[in-house]
Amino acid sequence: MDTTTDNRYLLPADAYWTSDWFDLEQRRLFSRTWHLAAADSELAQPGDYVTVDAGLDPLVVVRGIDDQLRCFHNVCRHRGMGLVAGCGNARSGLVCPYHFWNFGLDGGLRRVPQREEQFPDLDLAEWGLLPAAVGTWGGMVFAHPEPDAEPLESWLGQLPAKIGTFQPALLTQVAHVKYEARCNWKLFVENHVDVLHLWYLHAGTLADFDHQRFEWEQLGRNWVSFEPLKAGVNVPRLTASTTAITHIDDRDADGLGAHAAFPNVLMATSSEFFITYVAQPRAPDCTVVDLRVRAEPDADPAALIRSASSFIHEDIAGCERVQANVRSSRYRVGPLAQHHERPITLFHQHLLEALDIPTNGAPACAATV
Ligand code: FES
Ligand SMILES: [Fe+2]
Repeated sequence: MDTTTDNRYLLPADAYWTSDWFDLEQRRLFSRTWHLAAADSELAQPGDYVTVDAGLDPLVVVRGIDDQLRCFHNVCRHRGMGLVAGCGNARSGLVCPYHFWNFGLDGGLRRVPQREEQFPDLDLAEWGLLPAAVGTWGGMVFAHPEPDAEPLESWLGQLPAKIGTFQPALLTQVAHVKYEARCNWKLFVENHVDVLHLWYLHAGTLADFDHQRFEWEQLGRNWVSFEPLKAGVNVPRLTASTTAITHIDDRDADGLGAHAAFPNVLMATSSEFFITYVAQPRAPDCTVVDLRVRAEPDADPAALIRSASSFIHEDIAGCERVQANVRSSRYRVGPLAQHHERPITLFHQHLLEALDIPTNGAPACAATV
């Protein structure tokens, strides 16, 4: 990975609105990476399951009778129907609604209606659900379509050790909401790692934080950052102030963290929350921001959602206004701030590498799918 490329916006405009780019990303990136699927509290009991779309691959994560978490492709081995949708409990097995093939929580095919008459040669052992990979970190469950995927620990790399004293596993998921953003998912990620906009787009909501002392660090494909409260500010306006996290140190309690696990798992920390907000691509111009709030168990979910979403709504509105212009005949990205927008160039480099598109110092307009 060449990280010496000077600061340029490496993606062409059509990366933000064409179905060709969207499809390529689904196939080469999101079908080949880890996805945040659930809090482990959502998979506490045998039979509990959640579904997650991993690029082109619908997956289901389920807790077995033996208490093991497993992940499978949510694709019936008979004629391909999705076995389950959303989340729920399937203690008696995953039963396909189409023709009632019944799969155990270990993925094995257990029963096939009319088997003797209609499927006399069928060997149950050959038609179990296709495996995928599952991993956990910090009370969160992740899924990957490939059973022999790069381990979750490797994908996260140094990130868990570089988010200060936060230990997400000590917190409880107290809220889970989704927002629709009418923009390409990459605009939302770029906005997340853009330091420059903090002074301006968030002039009101993040005014108590000292952006001059914002620090960020690129950790391979991932990114971590921190900024402290301004001197003399005691109670951050961002937070509800009644549910402080007890296990973090003073520095973390008086600052704001923002992190990103490539490509789209965004995180933020404050004295009262550890949030994840995944930029889930739905269409070239539509992204679902899937926000989960982890906090002390007695925290007020509504207050935390209000404080966490105050700046996220500003970000969504900003990204939507850029998205509205990406098809303009005059849309060009100008110079990037050499330090405060540098992470955008690095994100583009990692994205192009994942998509097998060479950068080679070529002008952005030459990048094609
Ligand atoms: S498609 Fe699932 S049982 Fe037929
Ligand atoms: Fe922002």
